[in-house]
Amino acid sequence: MAGSRLPFPLTLTGDGITLREWRSEDLEDLVRMLDEPEIARWSPMPSPFDHEAGVAYLKRCYQNRVSGQRIQLAIVAAGRPVGEVLLFGVDLGLKEAELGYLVDARERRRGLASGALSLLSAYAQSSLHLGRLLLRIDPRNVSSTAVARRCGYRLTGEAPILQEGPHGSSRLDTWELVEGQADSRRDRQKNVAARRYGRRT
Ligand SMILES: CC(C)(COP(=O)(O)OP(=O)(O)OC[C@H]1O[C@@H](n2cnc3c(N)ncnc32)[C@H](O)[C@@H]1OP(=O)(O)O)[C@@H](O)C(=O)NCCC(=O)NCCS
Repeated sequence: MAGSRLPFPLTLTGDGITLREWRSEDLEDLVRMLDEPEIARWSPMPSPFDHEAGVAYLKRCYQNRVSGQRIQLAIVAAGRPVGEVLLFGVDLGLKEAELGYLVDARERRRGLASGALSLLSAYAQSSLHLGRLLLRIDPRNVSSTAVARRCGYRLTGEAPILQEGPHGSSRLDTWELVEGQADSRRDRQKNVAARRYGRRT
């Protein structure tokens, strides 16, 4: 990574999805997406998430992007923002960072979160040279733990991080990407495609 700033602007593509910077014209889609019970339950979003919260969110996102503090990208499918994936808490000394994700309730169970997480994880390893990629997940969040597992992350066994929130206390487990796993999902897909055409890669 050149200097200590994360790259801005950034676009990543693969697996039929695009990860791109949030834009001011995404406000309506953003508010509709983030004003949702599962997102309120498992992420630190204000709830209800209204127009004003959306304006503040996009402003803070832009500030974090231009200052190179975090990567915060819209997941775009069929031309519309349908989720978000983030990389933050970068420690250049330890070469580690944390990632996070969310997907529009109407677009779930289509592989979008795992596609986006795989793309950003691969980029963080190959272009940012971050060797230790982490997720922090409440074990009761079954969809998020499924995404982590599918993308090649494994539980580290580190002590849970205790967190108080509007839904009571939670204990976040730490998951780490197992080396060489960032591309495993795409490789599996390639193998499926190759089998369909009668050959293996
Ligand atoms: C977690 C979340 C991002 C998953 O998004 P998604 O696009 O539906 O996830 P994917 O389609 O990539 O699913 C990946 C895996 O999780 C599984 N999965 C997804 N939702 C699930 C659910 N509710 N129950 C069980 N498994 C689930 C999928 O079947 C898939 O597993 P597979 O490999 O067996 O096919 C979405 O549910 C969400 O936005 N939740 C609220 C915010 C949140 O919890 N963020 C994470 C905070 S740590």
